[in-house]
Amino acid sequence: MIAEAIMYHLAIVKILLVVLSVNLLTPWLVKQSYSKWIRSGFFLFSAFLGMVIFSGLILFILMGASWSLRTILMSIVAFILIILEVQRVRTISKYWKDGNNIALVSAKFVLLEIFLLVATTIWLVASK
Ligand code: HEM
Repeated sequence: MIAEAIMYHLAIVKILLVVLSVNLLTPWLVKQSYSKWIRSGFFLFSAFLGMVIFSGLILFILMGASWSLRTILMSIVAFILIILEVQRVRTISKYWKDGNNIALVSAKFVLLEIFLLVATTIWLVASK
């Protein structure tokens, strides 16, 4: 059961990575209804990060785990991801009004998010 729960937790992390990749490309792929797409990206990000955190908490309870370096790291990374994504949308909204090209600004935030997610996942799986 725990192995299954870890599998689901990891699968949702991978889906979150796909969502981030889509968010990275959105400004280049979409020319119209731009803000609608950015909002959808933010919604998908929130939904999947929420699921990662929820499945992590269930795992935490199932395993009767205590706060190890691994779980503390995961929680901090989840928190930083939220801050980065909120900052991304806020910065985009600000730059948007000034008529700037927001693609690069958005990409900087999303690339940082992808790096954090991938680096953490690799470290967690490799150090098991
Ligand atoms: C962005 C956030 C997160 C990422 C990238 C992440 C990723 C991972 C990975 C890669 C594993 C190891 C899977 C394996 O062993 O093959 C794992 C396990 C686990 N995660 Fe997360 N996780 C995140 C958030 C959370 C949160 C918020 C919690 C809740 C406290 C949590 C609790 C756990 C637990 C209890 C385990 C199993 C024990 C362990 O491997 O240390 N995770 N997670």
